[in-house]
Amino acid sequence: VFVKNQKRRQKVINAPGAAHTSGGVRRKNVVTADGFFFDGLSKEGNTGNIFGANVTAGNVLGFPGLNTLGLSMNRVDSAPRAVNPPHIHPRSTELVLVIKGKLLVGFVTTGFVYLSKVVSAGEIFVIPRGLVHFQKNVGKGKAMSFTAFDSQLPGVVVLPLTLFGSTPSIPDDVLTKGFQVDEDVVKAIKSKFGN
Ligand code: GLV
Ligand code: MN
Repeated sequence: VFVKNQKRRQKVINAPGAAHTSGGVRRKNVVTADGFFFDGLSKEGNTGNIFGANVTAGNVLGFPGLNTLGLSMNRVDSAPRAVNPPHIHPRSTELVLVIKGKLLVGFVTTGFVYLSKVVSAGEIFVIPRGLVHFQKNVGKGKAMSFTAFDSQLPGVVVLPLTLFGSTPSIPDDVLTKGFQVDEDVVKAIKSKFGN
């Protein structure tokens, strides 16, 4: 059995393209197709949350085969009228491909210009790296889209959770001054995000 396994390993190591991933020197770890496969985006996400939207991540943390390859993908499921709230990917541009339904996709430039588009099945919209963006389901039924990133780990800064749901909390006076609202408004928003 040992000899047979060794032979099989040798075959994999000698396979075309194998040197690229194994360096042709590893004897213990065999590179297989499974390492380059991920089925985590095949199922609909649970949209039963305050936003009505669910993002299933397909980044290097769950799909190690992406390591060093500089790209990744998410699946976004949205109930009718759902909003994937304003957020930023610090390390990546995002390409939104709508598969089902209609999404209003918007972002704001560094010059405070709001740009948006209603995106339907088969259409794509691009959000440049680091800009605040959101998606809203404006169709009649559920919506589903895939988002592609030029980073294996784009990172995400969800603005409502970051500003109003951090631990410890950002001081109220910073937020009242920053947003030019009364303290009760800040407290009301904080209470929605666990603060
Ligand atoms: C959508 O904006 C996503 O980040 O997947
Ligand atoms: Mn995004």
